[in-house]
Amino acid sequence: MTEMKTLTIPKPDDWHLHIRDEAMMRAVLPFTARHFARAVIMPNLKPPVVTAADAAAYRDRVRAAIPEGVNFTPLMTAYLTDTTDPDDLECGFEEGILFGAKLYPAGATTNSENGVTDIQNISVVLDRLQRIGMPLLLHGEVTDPDVDFFDREAVFVDRVLTRLRHNFPELKIVLEHVSTHHAVQYVVSEAHSGKLAASITPHHLLYNRNRLFDGGLCPHNFCLPVLKRETDRLAVVEAATSGAPMFFAGTDSAPHPRAAKEKDNAAGGIFSAPTALSIYAEIFDRADALDRLAEFLSLNGSSFYGLNVNEATLTLEKADAPLELPSPIVTEEGDEVVAFPSGMPLSWRVADR
Ligand code: DOR
Ligand code: ZN
Repeated sequence: MTEMKTLTIPKPDDWHLHIRDEAMMRAVLPFTARHFARAVIMPNLKPPVVTAADAAAYRDRVRAAIPEGVNFTPLMTAYLTDTTDPDDLECGFEEGILFGAKLYPAGATTNSENGVTDIQNISVVLDRLQRIGMPLLLHGEVTDPDVDFFDREAVFVDRVLTRLRHNFPELKIVLEHVSTHHAVQYVVSEAHSGKLAASITPHHLLYNRNRLFDGGLCPHNFCLPVLKRETDRLAVVEAATSGAPMFFAGTDSAPHPRAAKEKDNAAGGIFSAPTALSIYAEIFDRADALDRLAEFLSLNGSSFYGLNVNEATLTLEKADAPLELPSPIVTEEGDEVVAFPSGMPLSWRVADR
C-alpha cells in the first residue's frame, strides 16, 4: 500500500533567488513561480542592477516572464557598489520598486566584480538604509586571499558583521545562505535585537563538503559559500528546524549553463528551483520537525520583513516512490541547466492541486 502523508501550509516565499535574464530567465522562472508566492530577486546580472531605474526595468522583464495565470511577486534588490547613491536607493524604496540592498564584497562570487571593495566606502549608504528601514542583504564572505576558502564566512562574521552590527544597531540585516556553525551561533546570539536574520538554502541543509569530491570533482555541487563540514551542516539543520523566527528559506537557486559548470574555473551556483521544497520537506521530515516547516517556509521571512503571510496555500505530499528529478532544462538558446540534486531520492513533492 502506498503511504501518503500530506502537509498544507501557506504558500512559501523564496527570500533569495537568482533568475538571470532573457532566455535563461524564461526557462527557470516558471519553476519558482509555481511553488513560491514571492521571491527576492538577486541583482547580480551583467551589468548589475544598481539603480532604482535598473530595478524597475528588470522587474518589468521578470513580470513578463511569469507564466500566464500564475500569481507571483518579484521583490527587487539593488546591487551596492562603492559609488551607490543613497538618494536613489531611498527613492526606489519609498516608491516600492526596491525591497532591499544587496552587498557583494567585490570578487566574492558570480558577477561581483562591481561589488563593494571596502565596507567603509558605503557608510553613508548604510546609515541611510538604517534610517529608512531598508534591509541590507549580505553575501557574508571575505575575499582576503590569506583566509582559507572554507573560513570565508566565519571570518566575515568576526571581521565585518560584528562591527556592522555595532555601528548600525538598528539596521535590518539578513546574512544570506548561512553555511557554518559559527555564523548560526552568531545569529542566534543576536536574536534579542530582532534586527539580524539568516536565510538557509536546500543545498547547505542536504550536503556537506564531501559531496564536492564524490567519485571525482563535482562542479554541480559547487556553490558560494562553498559546502562545509558535517558539523556545520548539522548546525544549519538545527537552526532551520528549531522554529527560531530569525531563520527562513532562501534557496539561492542559481542557474548556470552546463558548459559554465563543467569547465576550468567552474561557476559557483546550484539550480534548485524545481526541487527546493522537496528538499526542505525531506530535511524537516528527517529531523521530525514537519510541524515547524510552515514557520521556516512561509511565516518567519514575512514576519522579519514586515509583510503579510500569503493567503494561498500549498500542499506537500510524501509518497513511497521517489520524486522523478527533472532532466536538464533547456533554454531557448539551447543551454542546458542541470537541476540539483542528482542521484538523491526525494520522497516529498508539491501536490498538483
Ligand atoms: O552559489 C552561488 N551562486 N552563490 C552566489 O553567491 C552567487 C550565485 C550565482 O549568482 O551564481
Ligand atoms: Zn545568491
